[in-house]
Amino acid sequence: MAAGQKIGVLIVDDIAETRENIRKLLQFEADIEVVGTAKTGKEAVTLAREKRPHVVIMDINMPDMDGITATELISKDVPSAQIVILSVQSDADYLRRAMMAGARDFLTKPPSGDELISTIRRAYEISRLRTAAAPMQIAVGPGGQTFAPLEGKIITVYSAKGGVGCTTIASNLAVALHTEETRVALVDCNLQFGDLAVFLNLKPQHSVIELFENAETLDGEFAASVATDHSAGFKVFLGPPTPEQADIVNAAQVKKALEFLKTRYAYVIVDTPSALTEIVLSAFDVSDKIVLVATPDIPAIKDARIFFDVIDALNFPADRVMFVLNRVDKRGGITAQNIQESIKHEVTAQLPLEERVLFSINSGVPLLIGNRSLPFSMAMLDMANKLKAGLAPAPEKEPAVVEEKGKKPAPRRLFGG
Ligand SMILES: Nc1ncnc2c1ncn2[C@@H]1O[C@H](COP(=O)(O)OP(=O)(O)OP(=O)(O)O)[C@@H](O)[C@H]1O
Ligand SMILES: [Mg+2]
Repeated sequence: MAAGQKIGVLIVDDIAETRENIRKLLQFEADIEVVGTAKTGKEAVTLAREKRPHVVIMDINMPDMDGITATELISKDVPSAQIVILSVQSDADYLRRAMMAGARDFLTKPPSGDELISTIRRAYEISRLRTAAAPMQIAVGPGGQTFAPLEGKIITVYSAKGGVGCTTIASNLAVALHTEETRVALVDCNLQFGDLAVFLNLKPQHSVIELFENAETLDGEFAASVATDHSAGFKVFLGPPTPEQADIVNAAQVKKALEFLKTRYAYVIVDTPSALTEIVLSAFDVSDKIVLVATPDIPAIKDARIFFDVIDALNFPADRVMFVLNRVDKRGGITAQNIQESIKHEVTAQLPLEERVLFSINSGVPLLIGNRSLPFSMAMLDMANKLKAGLAPAPEKEPAVVEEKGKKPAPRRLFGG
């Protein structure tokens, strides 16, 4: 915070006692100043325009204009103001509407002093990062050095059938691909039941929803502020703590945010749920590679075949799909050869059944960390190398003059052109 600058807070509640209690909780904080109090939504909008507070503490049920409408108006008129909803309504529907109207955070009545103060400071910190950061063209490194935006690659890990190992593969892939020179961002696009925080034993402070919500105005500093650092060096954009937050964002925002991340990270690895939702399709659309995971059993293979039919119907180039078998065990009786023949797509990598994978998940440490000589780890590293090689820029060729006869039409964008 700039020397002498305080966090300006506007308190909005129709009950005088609540306003007074909040003011009292804040009065001894040297870095916080209450710049106004309002007892209706309308009054809040007028005061916010006038006082330009950093943070607004907003009640929901008020006479003349409710807190959700006031939030919507203030977010539009005073975008730098971060709105924290304060309500007895623990109803998810209210909170979702408030978040969609532009609220940054919420507190349940009556908040404890600590909760209130830390929420205000966090909201302020985000507003400061967002306003301080200039539009990103040239990025500034940790040592103050500048570097041009990257042309990173987006790798989406998907399976048509759930529980076959996408999150295991995505998290180990992050370990395999991350280096000082090729930085990795791991993004949880499983917005309802994201597992990356558990797989990596990370404590979520922020979620990927904040990244997606701000897709239109992202800059490197803000993106980094909502990511969680993994001790292996890569950044993780964790799924939200509650499933209903998935409804706050749309596919276009996800697409835009992923496209932004690839200007910042050499590899953006996206973990997905096993459903062809609009959000998953938009991730496919911007992916340089889809890692399609299946296990060598009949139901998983049936689903993988359907997946190839779908992408074929959408004219998504099949060579952008890397087909990987996980939990390969020769006792199962189905070989990669059988599967290749049945699906008519090459199996690029095979990861063996490894019982220590389960232990690694339960301890929150990807197996590749500290266990590089296991057959599973060696297969993972081999797969990472094949991915890298497949994503490296192709040597320049003479442009083809004549179009081949019977060639497929150019790939159509999967989602939203
Ligand atoms: N190579 C492997 N060997 C043995 N077990 C494995 C292997 N890969 C994954 N597993 C196990 O499979 C289970 C599912 O893995 P994971 O959560 O990574 O799958 P997923 O496709 O992300 O599932 P979901 O659909 O729930 O997101 C885990 O219990 C994990 O231990
Ligand atoms: Mg998963």
